Amino acid sequence: MARNLTKSNAQWQRAVTKLPLGVASNFRYWGEDRTIYVKEGRGGRVTDLDDNVYVDYRLGYGPAILGYADARVDAAARKGREVGGVFALSTEREFTVAARISKMVPAAELVRFSNSGTEAVMAGLRLARAFTGRDDYIILEGGYHGLFDAAMWYTPMEKWAEVGEPEVKPYSEGIPLGVRGFAHFVQANDANQLEDTFRRHAGKIACMLIEPIMGNCLGIAAEADYLRTARALCDKYGVVLLIDEVKTGFRVARGGVQELYGVNADLCTFAKAVANGYPISVLAGREDIMRKLGRGVAHGGTYTAHSVSLAAAEECLRILDETDALERIASYGTRLRKGMSAVLSARGIPHSFVGHHR
Ligand SMILES: Cc1ncc(COP(=O)(O)O)c(C=O)c1O
Repeated sequence: MARNLTKSNAQWQRAVTKLPLGVASNFRYWGEDRTIYVKEGRGGRVTDLDDNVYVDYRLGYGPAILGYADARVDAAARKGREVGGVFALSTEREFTVAARISKMVPAAELVRFSNSGTEAVMAGLRLARAFTGRDDYIILEGGYHGLFDAAMWYTPMEKWAEVGEPEVKPYSEGIPLGVRGFAHFVQANDANQLEDTFRRHAGKIACMLIEPIMGNCLGIAAEADYLRTARALCDKYGVVLLIDEVKTGFRVARGGVQELYGVNADLCTFAKAVANGYPISVLAGREDIMRKLGRGVAHGGTYTAHSVSLAAAEECLRILDETDALERIASYGTRLRKGMSAVLSARGIPHSFVGHHR
């Protein structure tokens, strides 16, 4: 049956008069007559304005790890609302949430909150630069770290080079080319190239930024050995290893990729699964590095550690830590993969899957 998008289409016509592309995020624009406006999300399903019901495998790009409108998290958020929002002061839950994160992720010795993944990674890069007194950074080709200039580079496939540093382009207009010189791109899982890069730029590199499972790049995953090599090289060259766990954190294991692969970051960033969709993100890491915050390194923000988001995070992390939620999610994933594989195999369509559970 053809999907009816009459109301969504009408909404788009209205929205585009006040919103560029008719949306609040470029990624939500699917075309003039295909952009979907949501009426509500519950569990794993989303209903649009025309009452089409979708099984939503995207789950808001990841945050709705327990499903939309999880009753336990929403009840906690309402309690958080009673605290009053944000203040020019701190609240008690900042400690309880930080303590939970440290328990789940041992490398998270100290914790700072922000609102989005982008903000957390930006702060992490600044902190690494301040800590080392260097400006350059290494980044995995294909990794996504949010919409800030330092992270917005991509490799056009037609220019893709099998050896050497790939030719990269800014992902958007408005990014000063001067920023490009600080970034050194490496291909995931090529330990020799990584070592070469460290050697060639020794003394200049502040940070190695890794998205360990590249969510925007077919799910290409760093191998455990590669992460361990990166860890050793960072130690050898005095570089801060920043593992960006915005997507993998509190998801692929309670302690994220760091637990799964047995590698500890110097700094790590989290968002998405932290609070089941309430806006909060985390920069965490080694005490000696994190203590530079406020002692030379600026960090803050009006909306940082909002009482609603903090209360939601407290409950969401409790559920992920203390219940079998992650095991159930992993088993759904395995079943889904098997089912899709059976459908594709029955039609003779070659296919492969990536993911942390085989
Ligand atoms: C690994 C990673 N880092 C950073 C970000 C940016 O997070 P946000 O969209 O919350 O700014 C994302 C978002 O998808 C991400 O997947």
